[in-house]
Amino acid sequence: MSDFINGFWGYYVAFVVLAGIAWCLWLIFSQRKWLKSQSGIVQDTGHVWDGDLREMNNPVPRWWTMMYIMMCLFGLGYLVLYPGLGAFQGSLAYTSAQEVKQDQAALDAMVKPTYARFAKMDIPQIAADPEAHLIGERLFLNNCAQCHGSDAKGSTSFPNLVEGDSMYGRQPEVLLATITQGRNGVMPALAAVIDAGTAGDIAQYVRSLSGLAHDQIRIVRGKREYMNACAACHGAEGKGNKALGAPNLTDDVWLYGSSEATIVHSILNGRNNRMPAQEQTLTSDQIRLVAAWVWGLSKGVDVTSATVTSARAK
Ligand code: HEC
Ligand code: HEC
Repeated sequence: MSDFINGFWGYYVAFVVLAGIAWCLWLIFSQRKWLKSQSGIVQDTGHVWDGDLREMNNPVPRWWTMMYIMMCLFGLGYLVLYPGLGAFQGSLAYTSAQEVKQDQAALDAMVKPTYARFAKMDIPQIAADPEAHLIGERLFLNNCAQCHGSDAKGSTSFPNLVEGDSMYGRQPEVLLATITQGRNGVMPALAAVIDAGTAGDIAQYVRSLSGLAHDQIRIVRGKREYMNACAACHGAEGKGNKALGAPNLTDDVWLYGSSEATIVHSILNGRNNRMPAQEQTLTSDQIRLVAAWVWGLSKGVDVTSATVTSARAK
């Protein structure tokens, strides 16, 4: 009830509520025939139907009137205890947000023993524990699969957490930071300094880095421009930069796609990609278990370009 833009509306609401109850009490008082019904004389309205059916003006039963008055008193009592009178909090200082907090605390206390066993383990140990594996998988399916896919292999703009080089790294502490605080990968739009033709040449060079079909002549110019405009973030060899989240361009895992048009789009328009922080939704215990599950998928190893190249060479 503290959301009123100024004090006036709090008083206004309180006035309307109290005036409503006062009106109800006045209404029953103004109709107080039951007091008179003691006399035993019942008024006749004078309406007659079907020859002899007379409409009398009997007062409502006393129990009904009592109930009505009790309801009004109940309403007043409620407004003393609970918030209802504008900005007045009520003497119990009840809020539904507080109730949710209490429920959450009760739930946390209930699940705490389940997680207590993992508190002293490090991420690789948790990853090896069968019970933790099941909990971690469940947490992943409920909280992460909508973006990263139920096999954690991602899709366009949502990174593959299993294969290829990771954008930020797969060491336990990096995973914990990524999941807890989220990530925001930003590649600036370069349309102001690079024209579409040059971007196409750079894209050809980028394709050549991972062994995709490319134009031998255009990559010469493309490489020169790449060194000027891209190497600072993606590295001279195109292996990326985990501190910036700049992807490795030499492997065969693509966040957006490997076609010339898609790469040109990334260059000209930039990219802005966000992984939401999970610290509001998950407890730190839960984050450790889901991090361990993700870590276990690749055993924390980034499939380096060397592995990819050697695999392809065979
Ligand atoms: C709303 C969609 C969304 C949800 C939900 C989500 N993620 Fe992400 N996640 C992303 C995006 C998008 C990125 C890439 C961020 C970037 O480009 O900087 C990302 C990045 C990551 C990375 C870094 C990948 C890398 O290559 O280094 C990890 C690890 C990760 N997420 C794990 C998780 C886990 C575990 C959960 C569940 C607790 C989760 N994510 C929930 C969208 C999501
Ligand atoms: C300021 C650093 C920065 C610069 C400069 C930069 N990039 Fe990026 N680039 C990034 C980041 C960060 C991402 C990841 C964006 C995301 O999280 O979605 C990215 C993503 C990409 C992708 C998408 C990769 C995929 O897997 O789909 C391509 C392709 C790319 N950059 C190419 C280039 C090229 C070519 C240039 C030079 C013209 C360039 N970048 C310049 C930081 C940079």
